[in-house]
Amino acid sequence: MNLTLKIWRQKSKDDKGQMVEYKISDISPEMSFLEMIDVLNNQLIEKGEDPVAFDHDCREGICGACSMYINGEAHGPGRGVTTCQLHMRSFKDGDTIYIEPWRAKAFPVIKDLVVDRSAFDRIIQAGGFVSVNTLGNTLDANAIPIEKSVADAAFDAATCIGCGACVATCKNSSAMLFVGAKVSQLSLLPQGKVEATKRVKNMVKQMDKEGFGNCTNTGACEVECPKGISLENIARMNRDYLVASVAAD
Ligand code: SF4
Ligand code: FES
Repeated sequence: MNLTLKIWRQKSKDDKGQMVEYKISDISPEMSFLEMIDVLNNQLIEKGEDPVAFDHDCREGICGACSMYINGEAHGPGRGVTTCQLHMRSFKDGDTIYIEPWRAKAFPVIKDLVVDRSAFDRIIQAGGFVSVNTLGNTLDANAIPIEKSVADAAFDAATCIGCGACVATCKNSSAMLFVGAKVSQLSLLPQGKVEATKRVKNMVKQMDKEGFGNCTNTGACEVECPKGISLENIARMNRDYLVASVAAD
């Protein structure tokens, strides 16, 4: 495949940045999208040019690092896949592909396609810990009966990989799908209920402090989420937050 790539190049956080065009040829349809960028970067290095900076780690849809906008869609075309799981067969020979970083105030661009997603880490930290009673009456977690539907909902929420596609896709740059998933994965289970009230208040407070926008129920986040995290998690977080707000500390 022969392609034209229009890639956002930005030297640093303070650089203005711009789209730069690259021509690339002999790309196999079986390559992953990141392998295609690897090929481009090898060519740039051979020419003595600065390779395109992009984030990646697992390259199998687990770590959430490979975040980028491709042709105006978070993680590119297709549903339920991260950029590293996207293959070049999703494109046609002769295509022009636009590649940009996440655009959100709370995710400043560090370089090219790499953004700073440490705001997510601070939200998780604000959630604190799950306490475990070890004073002689510890219950084996497997001995606590949990309804299948509840266990499934908690597991589904826990599949969030923190990629940030929900924020990048949302017109308000809201992080509520991410935070809703992180709140739900703990608050649904008995072990996570002990600190649930404090946790939801602290995580929402940190989310607001980081500069993420509010949710206006457009649902774009759910559509673009590579892990299919449901809007139900936002509704659950809102309910938990309301209860926590009227409860005594
Ligand atoms: S909710 Fe989905 S889109 Fe948002 S961070 Fe988690 S996995 Fe990524
Ligand atoms: S590199 Fe880990 S999810 Fe893509």
